[in-house]
Amino acid sequence: MVHLSGVSKWYFGQTRILNQINFDLKKGDFIYVVGGSGAGKSSLLRMIATEECPSVGTLSLFGYSLSTASSWTLRSIRKSLGYIPQNIRLIPDLTVYDNIALSLFLKGSRVINRQSKAKISELIHQLGLENKRNQPAFTLSGGEAQRVAVARALVRSPELIIADEPTGAQDRDFTWCLMDLFLKSNSNGSTVVLATHDREIVRKLRKKCAVLRGGHMSVEESICTY
Ligand SMILES: Nc1ncnc2c1ncn2[C@@H]1O[C@H](COP(=O)(O)OP(=O)(O)O)[C@@H](O)[C@H]1O
Ligand SMILES: [Mg+2]
Repeated sequence: MVHLSGVSKWYFGQTRILNQINFDLKKGDFIYVVGGSGAGKSSLLRMIATEECPSVGTLSLFGYSLSTASSWTLRSIRKSLGYIPQNIRLIPDLTVYDNIALSLFLKGSRVINRQSKAKISELIHQLGLENKRNQPAFTLSGGEAQRVAVARALVRSPELIIADEPTGAQDRDFTWCLMDLFLKSNSNGSTVVLATHDREIVRKLRKKCAVLRGGHMSVEESICTY
């Protein structure tokens, strides 16, 4: 589903942030991307989310190499993704409900049917956002905005969830509430790649771990020493 071969990444005037990364993610996988601040977690996830290209190397999603994919293919790949960027990016003037519903329109829905409305309401309820449902996003706290960003991604039942420190602004209760939602999405068929520097999550909820250190990646199958 995700295949990186010899991928390196650097930004203008900088040394390599990621160096010769080889990485495979199969349908149904759940993998953490861990590493210290500045290790390149967000850079890696932005590439998988098709927001940035590798400086060198090949990145394929759903069997399509991104460097040669047509714009039609890219659009259709993006509809299968649920991306939670580290910097959240809600539309400030839209309500919580509309920010989540917009994600379905962008996936191609023309109308939000009863089933979709129920799904949005369920996510709003699960994420403790009921009293914020009709509030514009600019009024939310950082933690609330982050939970809306998670709902916006999960409402699509995406084939691939790309979550960049999705619990970074949460207390313990909401952290486990979010992790529970990611686990449920995973057991319902979504593949999950989740960047975190939260050692407690990685140690309590054991999954495959991709550890980034000094630009290199090592994948640890079950026991993560991070
Ligand atoms: N757009 C950019 N331009 C220049 N440098 C960047 C850019 N994005 C990230 N970096 C640098 O790349 C390194 C890795 O950043 P990042 O991927 O955000 O790491 P992490 O998410 O693991 O904290 C950092 O040194 C950061 O300053
Ligand atoms: Mg980051």
